[in-house]
Amino acid sequence: MTAMQNVSLGAHYAVHLPAPDDFAFWRERARGLIQCDVPPDRVSWIEPGGTGDLFASDGPSRGDKRLPSPPADAPAVRASQRFLTLARSAGLHSDPARFGLLYRVLWRLQRSPRMMEDKADPDVRRIEELAKSVRRDAHKMHAFVRFREVSEDNGTPHFVAWFEPDHHIVRAEAAFFMRRFANMRWSILTPRGSMHWDGEVMREGPPARREDAPGDDPVEDLWRSYYASIFNPARLKVGAMLSEMPRKYWKNLPEAQIIPQLIAGAQAREAVMVAAGEREERARPASLAVVAQGVAACRDCPIADCGTRAVAGEGPGQAHLMIVGEQPGDQEDIAGRPFVGPAGQLLDRYLTSAGIDRSAAYLTNAVKHFKFTWKGKHRLHQSPQAKEIDTCRWWLDAERALVRPRIVLALGASAARGVLGRTVSVSKARGAPIMLDDGAELWMTVHPSYLLRLDGAARETQATLFASDLAAVQGRMADIGA
Ligand code: URA
Repeated sequence: MTAMQNVSLGAHYAVHLPAPDDFAFWRERARGLIQCDVPPDRVSWIEPGGTGDLFASDGPSRGDKRLPSPPADAPAVRASQRFLTLARSAGLHSDPARFGLLYRVLWRLQRSPRMMEDKADPDVRRIEELAKSVRRDAHKMHAFVRFREVSEDNGTPHFVAWFEPDHHIVRAEAAFFMRRFANMRWSILTPRGSMHWDGEVMREGPPARREDAPGDDPVEDLWRSYYASIFNPARLKVGAMLSEMPRKYWKNLPEAQIIPQLIAGAQAREAVMVAAGEREERARPASLAVVAQGVAACRDCPIADCGTRAVAGEGPGQAHLMIVGEQPGDQEDIAGRPFVGPAGQLLDRYLTSAGIDRSAAYLTNAVKHFKFTWKGKHRLHQSPQAKEIDTCRWWLDAERALVRPRIVLALGASAARGVLGRTVSVSKARGAPIMLDDGAELWMTVHPSYLLRLDGAARETQATLFASDLAAVQGRMADIGA
């Protein structure tokens, strides 16, 4: 039987998609129809609740017509990788004509396999436009989803976000949020459907309304005041800001609610800043609890989206000694506490040998989120970049201003940069203190994870130096009666 014999002459076919983002379904039906040689103007693609282009064509009757089955000897359908990549994205666009367009291009590809290279072809251009707009929507979702914490009935924290995508991207992007917030229980509610992650299983839910998501809460207030304090009018470019952060997303972003007032005051503030030597005056958090809330809400650098949670410092609020690490590791990220993993345990042993009581010290990090990359199922530590340390420095400064330690011990170069705001060589600076602006002494040594990476004689040498650095700090604390 030939392909055309299998098709009713002049018949129109209506394909009802089970979901507006079901590309796999479209692909399978499209293949079968191409193998039966059904031309594009004889097929209507209808998504749930839609009419497709049913009434735009010359009038098939409503409802499914049984689709023809391809003959056993039908040739394979050809589709370039470029087409498939673009089609997967374009299929998520909200344009009701998208599946018809994809089918038309697939049909044409059977006759002109290189047509995707023709940049002037209107169909190719349209697919590219659709795919680009979907990619942009996904990017906005990654950047502008803001979780608010709510408690489940049993007290477990659950994070809920509201987002209004332009296209059918929610299911496709759920995997991104699952990777980022693997250990958190969260829901993303949208008017196109909702996704719920309980730490193990992803569930889909129906479309939601704005009122279903929690509104403002104290963390949001804090976030707003933090944003206002870091907003730099000297760098304000309204056009660029609007194109990156379109107004439609503002209502979901706590910080965005104050943008109009910040823009209005920008010129005046700029003048003040210039007069003040470009040094912005920042309102510091009033307590360590506010710092902890602040770092939890902070999204000022990309690391904030990496781990499970921010890890704030811990220890007595008036500790004489502050120990600063680089950033929380895998175990700290899970536990929400600094220095509980292998490096922390090694540090504990050396502190004890040096006679330093960990529980009397305030332990924190230069960067408050865990930066990592996935290797299989494992999260591998990645060093923070200088600009990430500098961005997070505002929080470390706030902790120092509240705790007012007499001695700050920086473990490694990232920690030292977090304290000083510039890079120093630990091997050159160790052994003697640097005086800080507030009168505290900064002492430096290597990070304990450095010792964990060494073995043999190198480890012994470095371990001896590390122990003597800690002994020097202990000696100095005794000298100043701390
Ligand atoms: N390494 C750090 O720098 N900080 C921690 O909290 C844990 C490991």
